Amino acid sequence: MSAPLLSVEGLRVGFRAADGGMVEAVRGVDFAIAPGEAVGIVGESGSGKSLSMLAVMRLLGPPARATGGRVLFDGEDLLAADEARMRALRGRDIAMVFQDPQSSLNPALTIGRQITDVVRAHRQVSRSEARRIAAEALERVGIPAAATRLGAYPHEFSGGMRQRALIAMAVACRPRLLIADEPTTALDVTVQAQIVDLIAELRRDLGIAVIFISHNLQLVSEIVDRVVVMYGGKVVEDGPVADIELRARHPYTRLLRSCVPSLSGPVGPLVAIEGAPPRLGRMPPGCPFSPRCPQAVETCAAEMPALLREGRRSLACWRPQ
Ligand SMILES: Nc1ncnc2c1ncn2[C@@H]1O[C@H](COP(=O)(O)OP(=O)(O)OP(=O)(O)O)[C@@H](O)[C@H]1O
Ligand SMILES: [Mg+2]
Repeated sequence: MSAPLLSVEGLRVGFRAADGGMVEAVRGVDFAIAPGEAVGIVGESGSGKSLSMLAVMRLLGPPARATGGRVLFDGEDLLAADEARMRALRGRDIAMVFQDPQSSLNPALTIGRQITDVVRAHRQVSRSEARRIAAEALERVGIPAAATRLGAYPHEFSGGMRQRALIAMAVACRPRLLIADEPTTALDVTVQAQIVDLIAELRRDLGIAVIFISHNLQLVSEIVDRVVVMYGGKVVEDGPVADIELRARHPYTRLLRSCVPSLSGPVGPLVAIEGAPPRLGRMPPGCPFSPRCPQAVETCAAEMPALLREGRRSLACWRPQ
């Protein structure tokens, strides 16, 4: 890979528990993304996907905080950057779109005002130039008659249009990295597919690197180059889409693959993975998936396998398939 745009190394996120001890939800996460690359981060609920990304953006709030590791953006460690520097980077160089478009928009301000505010926070432009940029951004995300929609309030938009407006806000300043955290789960299936296509298109047209977080491996596979699979606060497998789809080596990835029907393809069997993900603070000393893993042997429960790199793939497993 060329010099990474973002490199996350040994990232840890923890909470202060009631008894004063620390509970870790992100337990040493490593992955990198090249300029313009699209990477999917997949894993079940609670695997630490959102917390990892909030840590990257430095948006974690108490009681959660980053307790270790480095987040290098273009070589600069964001975990060590001051708040003023982060405010300058957020929205301009790195932008994030969240799961629920409703709660991410201010209901009292027009869509146009919210986009122009972001533009004017980062670029020295006049109000009218900011409105032009906002209209262009809305147009780009497929909102018809964009210029006349600037005066609309969030409630006048459908759920899909609100998500488009948030994406417009995120890309208005042409960031180098867009982090989309399950941007489609609140939407119906047709609109989901449109949003996924939109993100793929923006990435292609603007050359923005994309991190797309989802439960749905098939869905992300349609638009990303590489997939990072997380389980129990760790990366268990990472590799190009084709390898993950056809030659996954981690038993968890293989089960995940058979879990969710594809949006565009035929509906496959919905095989649920038996058992539940480990609870926070009750992680086994070994591989977090070992209690549910059909392949597990004694070592798996006792000792965490290291994430080992082999070419473009990485794997943390004692019993790869
Ligand atoms: N503020 C908080 N206080 C305590 N625990 C939290 C807090 N935020 C998250 N957690 C816990 O940390 C773990 C990881 O949460 P995270 O939101 O990163 O999961 P996720 O992979 O994004 O899941 P989902 O797919 O449901 O969005 C979960 O067990 C969650 O309950
Ligand atoms: Mg999440």
